[in-house]
Amino acid sequence: MHPLNRIGILTAGGDCPGLNAVIRSVAKEAIIQGLGVVGIEDGFLGLIENRCRPLSRRDVSGILASGGTILGSSNRSNPARFAVGKNPDGSPVFADVSDRCLAAIREHRLDAIVVVGGDGSMTVAQQLWERGIRDGTDLHFVGVPKTIDNDLHGTDITFGFATAVSIATEALDRVHTTAASHQRVMVVEVMGRNAGWIALHAGVASGSDIILIPEIPFSIDSVCKAIEDRGRMGAKFSVIAVSEGARPAGGERFVARVDPTSPDPIRLGGIGKHLSEQIESRTGHESRYVVLGHVQRGGTPVAADRVLATQFGHHAIRLLLNGKRHRLVALQNGRLTDIPMSECANRQRLVDTADPLIAAARGVGTMFGDE
Ligand code: F6P
Repeated sequence: MHPLNRIGILTAGGDCPGLNAVIRSVAKEAIIQGLGVVGIEDGFLGLIENRCRPLSRRDVSGILASGGTILGSSNRSNPARFAVGKNPDGSPVFADVSDRCLAAIREHRLDAIVVVGGDGSMTVAQQLWERGIRDGTDLHFVGVPKTIDNDLHGTDITFGFATAVSIATEALDRVHTTAASHQRVMVVEVMGRNAGWIALHAGVASGSDIILIPEIPFSIDSVCKAIEDRGRMGAKFSVIAVSEGARPAGGERFVARVDPTSPDPIRLGGIGKHLSEQIESRTGHESRYVVLGHVQRGGTPVAADRVLATQFGHHAIRLLLNGKRHRLVALQNGRLTDIPMSECANRQRLVDTADPLIAAARGVGTMFGDE
């Protein structure tokens, strides 16, 4: 097998708390094991534009608790479909620039790359590896699962999720007191793409009265009835945690913008405002909404994410040192393990409607808008 001397590391896709903790873990252990480490800037864009720099122990010291990523990230740099210009009508012109990535990989003598990313990034890595085989570039990848959305297939949890849940929970706790003071309905829209993990966990942790997730399409009549029922029982305010991907039964998701240069062009958003307006006009209860947005992705990771990120980084290096390639680090039933990278490409792990947490929430009277 090809000897392992130098590895690259990149962080791709939307950032999340804990990326620096993974970079530190991977780079420190690799350096201690005698490997050279190269940081690739801005995800796959750094390969396309050949922006790579050696990482020393000093470069990765003191970053464990910091948010963001010292390497930068990009979520619009798929080498196989890269926007290289614009058509006269303003639409992007795409080209396959994978050869540029392979040239950078050869120039920096990278034997393997640790890709810290989500399902889209794993798909890109897979494509690049297949292209490398055709072009005779002996390149290996291992993946580390990252996303606040917690929606990666094959792992029970991704780092970044715990921090996002903690931020969303604090926000829901805070609107709770102001909702009570003003006897209002407060709607908090959280991230999560097509998965309801953040809304479900933060909703339960904050004791939200109503939780709306993409996996359980809701009826606006049920939501309004739940608010009115609460009012009749003496609770004059309600707190709603809603996923950005939630939608009414038979209706569509709310799309905030479309970015044609991104591998995942849809950006969700708008359900919080819609819901708040509907509730106010249908029930007469005053309502306000908050869109938490990128607050959930920024800042220092909670301890659980730092621990998970450190374990994931360690496992990634162990995989490479043990000659295992094209694997995605995973946590299954509390144990660190790994699965073929191809298994998670283009797949999402959604909330199972039979999830015991949903049952526990229903048990304490939380509504999901489907009752
Ligand atoms: O996947 C992470 C995530 O934060 C999603 O929850 C959200 O839908 C999306 O990224 C937002 O993307 P952007 O940073 O491009 O606005």
